[in-house]
Amino acid sequence: LGESNALDGVFDKFLSGVKIFLNRNVLRHDYIPDNLPHRGEHIHRLGGILAPSLSGSKVSNVFIYGKTGTGKTAVAKFVLDRLEHKAKEVGAPIKICYVNCRFAGTNYRVLADLCRSVGMDIPFTGLATGEVLDRFRNALNSGHSMLLVVLDEIDALVKRQEDDSLLYELTRINERLHGVWVGLIGISNDLHFKEFLDPRVLSCLSEEEVVFKPYLADELYDILLDRAKKAFVDGALSDSALRLSAALAAGEHGDARRALDLLRVAGELAEREGDNVVTEEHVRLAQQKIEHDRVSEVLRSLPLHSKIVLVGSYILNNHSPQGSVTGDLYEVYQELCRVINIEPLTQRRISGLINELDVMGILNARVVSFGRYGRTKKIRLGVSAKDIIQIYSEDSVAGPLIGYVPKCLQKHRSPA
Ligand SMILES: Nc1ncnc2c1ncn2[C@@H]1O[C@H](COP(=O)(O)OP(=O)(O)OP(=O)(O)O)[C@@H](O)[C@H]1O
Ligand SMILES: [Mg+2]
Repeated sequence: LGESNALDGVFDKFLSGVKIFLNRNVLRHDYIPDNLPHRGEHIHRLGGILAPSLSGSKVSNVFIYGKTGTGKTAVAKFVLDRLEHKAKEVGAPIKICYVNCRFAGTNYRVLADLCRSVGMDIPFTGLATGEVLDRFRNALNSGHSMLLVVLDEIDALVKRQEDDSLLYELTRINERLHGVWVGLIGISNDLHFKEFLDPRVLSCLSEEEVVFKPYLADELYDILLDRAKKAFVDGALSDSALRLSAALAAGEHGDARRALDLLRVAGELAEREGDNVVTEEHVRLAQQKIEHDRVSEVLRSLPLHSKIVLVGSYILNNHSPQGSVTGDLYEVYQELCRVINIEPLTQRRISGLINELDVMGILNARVVSFGRYGRTKKIRLGVSAKDIIQIYSEDSVAGPLIGYVPKCLQKHRSPA
């Protein structure tokens, strides 16, 4: 009964409490606002490239790139949405297909989505890619309409997979179409992606390029202000909280998604505390929470050996907080592997894993020189020891190793 009363209290507090959000969905990532501040130029540019399709002319393929959260998806959807309306209005035979290649997962599923957009259902599996492509071409040839395809997160199509044959086929598809054509709009936030591509595919895909730069703090402020007006109850968000959200997100890498997350989480924290105004303090707490959630997700999903390396680094950090060298970390890693009965990887492989963890910001590895004795890396934790303990305490592999004291460290310790 006590619990039930307490819970009742929670519900009542929520109901009687101040209202923070008018419509929190406006802060969601997939919400498409009617207005995209500071992207007018990009919208015009993309619109201009695609406009000839309204009179049936083949348009150039476009490659859009820029860092995460810079509005690439929002702008592409915005422009294509308007184009689709306009095409209906003037009776232009244009079809539009948006595919997120990362969600689709495989070349086959991307292709299945393309087929569906021209009114053809293909089975989930079973057909050879060549066969599906043939059917797709036939449907296009007999359908008499132009197709604009957005391949969002197009890098997922190349990096993870078999090969880039689908992209290759798509960039050449017009050669075997008669009176109709396909226009491609590729989007990527991976600036190195181009290096992975077959040069022929790249030159075909990037007949036009549109680059999205990270937002500056003032730009993020305008973007947030627009969304906040719809998302928050009048007066429930302080201007300083808005400014701080914009500044923090700009400081990271000008990511509008992060800025929106800060506002949403800050609002939720205020709501939970029963505070009637979202303040800077809520934004700071939101920042910590988002960062903790991010670290937590990354740490939990690390592959087995990376987890062991990280725990090794945590143990060494307790032993010598100023950082440790690669050789020591490898020695501890090997011992930890023995404790849980798995075969250690070679030092070379572990160096690779250390580099990956460094890129993710989980470890900091810095090359140091020991004069004529050569070079090694000094490694420190990139996340707090507290986070590691908390996140790994329930992990079936890492948990039991957290408190382990390696014998190799006792051996090194100089006699008192
Ligand atoms: N100029 C803008 N005005 C309003 N909202 C924006 C603007 N730019 C981005 N956003 C919002 O920020 C979030 C992230 O934008 P978007 O999804 O377009 O980023 P992206 O460049 O596609 O990032 P990624 O590379 O990670 O896919 C979305 O919720 C989007 O609505
Ligand atoms: Mg996107």
